[in-house]
Amino acid sequence: MNTPSTILSTIPRRLHLQPDHPLTITRKLIESRFPGYKTHNDLFPIVTTGQNFDSLGFPIDHIGRSRTDTYYLNKETVLRTHTSAHQADTFRNNESEGYLISADVYRRDAIDRSHYPVFHQMEGARTWDRQQAEREGKTLAQVISEDEEKIPKHNVSVEDPNPTFHAERNPLQKCHSAEEAIAISSHLKRSLEDMVVTIFNAANNATGKATPDEPLQVRWVEAYFPFTSPSWELEVFWQGEWLEVLGCGVVSQPILNNASVPNRVGWAFGLGLERIAMLLYSIPDIRLFWSKDKRFLSQFSEQDVIRRFVPFSKHPACFKDVSFWLRSSSSAAGGAAAIHPPAGDMSDNSPTASSAQSSNSMATSGKPIPPAASVPLSSSFHENDVMEIAREVCGDLVEDVRLTDSFVHPKTGRKSVCYRLNYRSLERTLTNKETNELHERLRGLLVERLGVELR
Ligand code: DAH
Repeated sequence: MNTPSTILSTIPRRLHLQPDHPLTITRKLIESRFPGYKTHNDLFPIVTTGQNFDSLGFPIDHIGRSRTDTYYLNKETVLRTHTSAHQADTFRNNESEGYLISADVYRRDAIDRSHYPVFHQMEGARTWDRQQAEREGKTLAQVISEDEEKIPKHNVSVEDPNPTFHAERNPLQKCHSAEEAIAISSHLKRSLEDMVVTIFNAANNATGKATPDEPLQVRWVEAYFPFTSPSWELEVFWQGEWLEVLGCGVVSQPILNNASVPNRVGWAFGLGLERIAMLLYSIPDIRLFWSKDKRFLSQFSEQDVIRRFVPFSKHPACFKDVSFWLRSSSSAAGGAAAIHPPAGDMSDNSPTASSAQSSNSMATSGKPIPPAASVPLSSSFHENDVMEIAREVCGDLVEDVRLTDSFVHPKTGRKSVCYRLNYRSLERTLTNKETNELHERLRGLLVERLGVELR
């Protein structure tokens, strides 16, 4: 349907399982903080819309379901957009109290140094059995609090200003008592703080400085996900800014009930592995994870302590603009991107660099999940279609694509847009002839596929 073969061809790469790959090392470091949790690391990426959306309570008009955001293979089959697609099945199999799922996930998205259409997430969950607690003569909250005692303590400052739940902003689920939700949330927060403190201490050590520039600080921020309530994001103050590291919450009870484990209650979280690996190693460009260049791969070892990545070269960039009129019917359609400064002005090469479209969680992909919006499923122009064509033509030779100008003609009402493509290889210097040819092919495909008129 809308899944190019270039995307399908990444499926066998399984970067998170490659020995000594930075994503593998990051995954294992996180796994080491969840002893006893069962790991699932080779779940196949092609799933049903039922698994990816319905089982998690995504409303039917949620923007995440649209063809502009998600790779469809047919009407009911997609490349998973998140590891949460496996939550319901894993709960149903009921093999362990805690689990971690690491996997490749796929999203049609902007092109820049922190976004790639294939990336990796880790999902974790911990549940308890109500009846089991009763059999032990304890309340569920008691059992959970006893388990919380086993989590290692840390001495990092944590800001958590909000109540565990709030009727409008972050509601308690009807089927949970206040005491239960508080116990689950508290276990959740201590577990994730422990993991994040471990990661960021390692990241601080990797910088090679004896004492970090500022002490580690973390904070809990209220959030919204269709599959948890109450929900939060965990942010870490890192190199001068608050970074969203993960999303989490108390699992929506209908997910567990529908998975035939109605007696279980618990929490879940999800995070983006590239984002964490990028800050752990100071990796400046997400494309590097896909590199087969020894100068990249040889810098990482599962045996060694984590050390900063040393960029092996910075080849020159070459930017080219493409301007076109949208088809007249599509002037008001999707892809309402913010206008970025020209690529050359961009000093932010961190994993938090913002992107134009918003459809998914910041914590896991760099972008927020907005609540359900009534966006037509097939709006006639969407920026992600431009991104897809750029990916198809240029592969990893395009560093970023950004909207630099747009206006509506006052008389005809037609809309014109200008995108700037920054061409740069991570491995060699591109020739002029090469970038010109890529750009010409891109221009041709924009006309052919999107029916735009070049200016
Ligand atoms: N699936 C979410 C995403 O891709 C991340 C996430 C958030 C997973 C909260 C969870 C969770 O399990 O509880 O943005």
